[in-house]
Amino acid sequence: MMLSLPFVFLCTTCASAYAHAFTGQALADLKRHSILSTPSSKLLGDLVGRPDNLTAVGTEISAILTGKSAATGDDTAYTALPDLDSPTCAADTCCKWAHIVSTMHSAFTSPSSCTSLARGAIRLGFHDAAAWNVSLPYGGADGSIVLNAEENDRPENRALKPISAQTRAWFARFRSFGISMADLIQMGAATAVVTCPGGPRIRSFVGREDGNPLPPEGLLPSAFADAETNIALFEAKTFSASDLVALVGAHTVSQQVFVDPARAGAPQDSSDSVWDTKFYEETAGPSTPPGVFTFPSDASLANSSETSGTWRAFAGSLRTWNAVRPPREITSVCLLDV
Ligand code: HEM
Ligand SMILES: *[C@@H]1O[C@H](CO)[C@@H](O)[C@H](O)[C@H]1NC(C)=O
Ligand SMILES: *[C@@H]1O[C@H](CO)[C@@H](O)[C@H](O)[C@H]1NC(C)=O
Ligand SMILES: *[C@@H]1O[C@H](CO)[C@@H](O)[C@H](O)[C@H]1NC(C)=O
Repeated sequence: MMLSLPFVFLCTTCASAYAHAFTGQALADLKRHSILSTPSSKLLGDLVGRPDNLTAVGTEISAILTGKSAATGDDTAYTALPDLDSPTCAADTCCKWAHIVSTMHSAFTSPSSCTSLARGAIRLGFHDAAAWNVSLPYGGADGSIVLNAEENDRPENRALKPISAQTRAWFARFRSFGISMADLIQMGAATAVVTCPGGPRIRSFVGREDGNPLPPEGLLPSAFADAETNIALFEAKTFSASDLVALVGAHTVSQQVFVDPARAGAPQDSSDSVWDTKFYEETAGPSTPPGVFTFPSDASLANSSETSGTWRAFAGSLRTWNAVRPPREITSVCLLDV
């Protein structure tokens, strides 16, 4: 049974033990800042209306999306990882992924930060997944952003050329082990997030099917759109306004190239090598630090009446940001066998 849903990645046998997240104190923080908007608990795709008719994986993903289970987890690395080419590895779904993640982790690591390939991988996962909304019976995290040349060439994906090329090379190297491009892209995003200093470790699921239909235009957010427009755009992907505020915090490690080419490489906060909350503080603050480039869309979210409370609550409180259920933070509509 195939399913479309917004989500992350699985290797349930790799990931376990979930240390998370709605701590009493964090909830108190949320209340103190009186956030009106709440995390979405919407299901989608084949998960909808099937509470009693899912595999263990489908049940667990439903639990994550509805806030009953954590989306982050501890590292449960292999003590002795079997060789990639061994029959033992072939018999274990997670083994090949441990090899792939290790390869990606090397490409994403620099001495005190994560690399530009890591930044790209986070955005690639987002752009593959988010080219979808609830009206579309196809698309999302289907690998099409790399598999479909026309989608890859779209202006909003211009900055993703280097990570697209790298992902193609990884696919060529690992595809004979039976992986999908869609899973490779989402595993890349999750690996990149935890590689950036301070980034959360997101439980990762695999099993998406590849597809390469060209998504309609206009499904990805513009850096010049106002908060109302982007809130509506994300609402149609099952994200609430506060989910959008939490998600866009990925700009804590981002750099722009094409919004203003004259300032190519300008970051969106003054600590773009670290996964922290400075992006929220500096975007909302009275003056932008020198060198920081604020997107109009982010400034609008920081100031809009619907999102400014959430924005302020995340500013200066990593705990509060992390407490807003991460499941949808690195999201992808995916195809999983449930
Ligand atoms: C309102 C929503 C959003 C808008 C308007 C937006 C827009 C942009 C723009 C214009 C860039 C710079 C591209 C360039 O010129 O190089 C960028 C970079 C980036 N975005 Fe977003 N974004 C949004 C949400 C997100 C979300 C939800 C994520 C991830 C979950 C994300 C992750 C990133 C990352 C990691 C980069 C840096 C890429 C790099 O440094 O190579 N963004 N975004
Ligand atoms: C479970 O769901 C599938 C797909 O919707 C359906 O074909 C099947 O009949 C369902 N089984 C039960 C026992 O409800
Ligand atoms: C989803 O996107 C399509 C194509 O752009 C659009 O026609 C439709 O109105 C959107 N659905 C929602 C709920 O926004
Ligand atoms: C913030 O929003 C208020 C109205 O809610 C508006 O008057 C003000 O100009 C906005 N500020 C910025 C910097 O956009």
